[in-house]
Amino acid sequence: MKVDGQHFRTIWVKPDDEGVVQLIDQRFLPHRFVIEEVRTVEQMATAIREMHVRGAGLIGASAGYGMYLAAIEAAEVDEQLINAAAQLKATRPTAVNLSWAVERQLKNIADGKNATEKVALALRTARSIADEDAEHCRMIGQHGLELIREIAGKKAGRPVNVLTHCNAGWLAFVDYGSATAPIYAAHDSELPVHVWVAETRPRSQGSKLTAWELGEHGVPHTIIADSASGHLMQRDAVDLVIVGTDRTTHTGDVANKIGTYLKALAAKDNDVPFYVALPSSSFDWTLRDGIKEIPIEERSAREVKQAEGWLEGQQVEVHIAPERSPAANYGFDVTPAHLVTGLITERGVCEANEKGIHALFPEQAQ
Ligand code: MRU
Repeated sequence: MKVDGQHFRTIWVKPDDEGVVQLIDQRFLPHRFVIEEVRTVEQMATAIREMHVRGAGLIGASAGYGMYLAAIEAAEVDEQLINAAAQLKATRPTAVNLSWAVERQLKNIADGKNATEKVALALRTARSIADEDAEHCRMIGQHGLELIREIAGKKAGRPVNVLTHCNAGWLAFVDYGSATAPIYAAHDSELPVHVWVAETRPRSQGSKLTAWELGEHGVPHTIIADSASGHLMQRDAVDLVIVGTDRTTHTGDVANKIGTYLKALAAKDNDVPFYVALPSSSFDWTLRDGIKEIPIEERSAREVKQAEGWLEGQQVEVHIAPERSPAANYGFDVTPAHLVTGLITERGVCEANEKGIHALFPEQAQ
C-alpha cells in the first residue's frame, strides 16, 4: 500500500545490505513514519513482543525473517537455530502464524548441507512467507469485493458501511491486509464504501493504525468508540462487519482482538452479516474448541490504565485510572463459529464450520 504516494510493504530485506531487515515501526504511527533496522534474532523477538510489528500475518512474516537472521548468526550450530525458534515462539501466544512460520523455516533450513546453504534457504523461505502473505491478502480482497458489490447493488449509490475492529489492515500483514483488502478493492473499483473504525482500546490499533492507513489510501472512514458499534447496528448504519483473526480453528471458532465477540453478538442481534477475513496461515488445523483451547495473551495492566498520545512533537503516556486500582488486560477473545456468517480466505468464501472450511482446504481434512 502507499504512504505519501510511495509503495511500501511492512517488512523487507534492506536492498543494499542483506544482513539487515527493515520494518515499519508501528509504535510511532500515526504521528511519525519510522523505519527500524533489525540485525539480530534478539532484536526481532523484541520487535514482535513489544509490538513494533503486530497483527497475525506480519508477526508470521517477522518470525520468518527472524529465523533468517538467526541462520546468519548461527553459522553451523543447529542448536542455536532451535533456541532462536523457541525465543521467537515465546514472544506472543495467540497468533498461530508465528509458530507456523518458525516451523516452516526449521523444516526448510534443515535441507541445507552447510551454513551458506542454510542461510540461502532461510532467506528464500522468509521471502516466500512474505510474498505468499501479500498474495493471499490480495486474493482475499478479490473474494470479499464480491460481497461488498452485492450489498452495493441494493443501496442505490449510497455507500456500503463496513464496520471493522482493531487493525487487520496492511499494517497487520505484509501488504493489503485481511479485513481491509475487500475494502481497498471496493474503493479501487469505485464502489462507494465507508468504514466505521472501532478505536479498539486499550492499544487503540483502530484509531491509530486502521484510520491512518485508510486515510493514506483515501477511503472514507469514521472513528468510533468501541461501545458505539451496537448502537450503529440498531440504526441500520452498518451493512456488514469484517474483522481479522489471529487464530481460527478448523471448526470455525475465531480468536481476534478483545471486543470482537461483543461485536459479533450485536451483529447477530441485528441481522448484520459478520465476516472474518483470513489467509490460511491463520487456521489452526489442530484445534477443535476455540474457547477452551486457544491461548489468550494477557498483557501489562499499564496498557489499560495509561494512554499513549502525541503532545507538542513528543510521544507521551498519561494516567487515566486511579494509580492504585488493579487492571486486567486480555488481548483477545474467541467468537464461536455460530456467530460468524462466513470466512473470506484466499481460496474463496466459506461457512465457518468444519465442512465449509475443509471443502476449501481438502488437503487439511483428516
Ligand atoms: O495485538 P495485535 O495488534 O497484534 O492484534 C491484532 C489483531 O487482533 C488483528 O485484528 C488480527 O491480527 C487479525 S488481522 C492480522
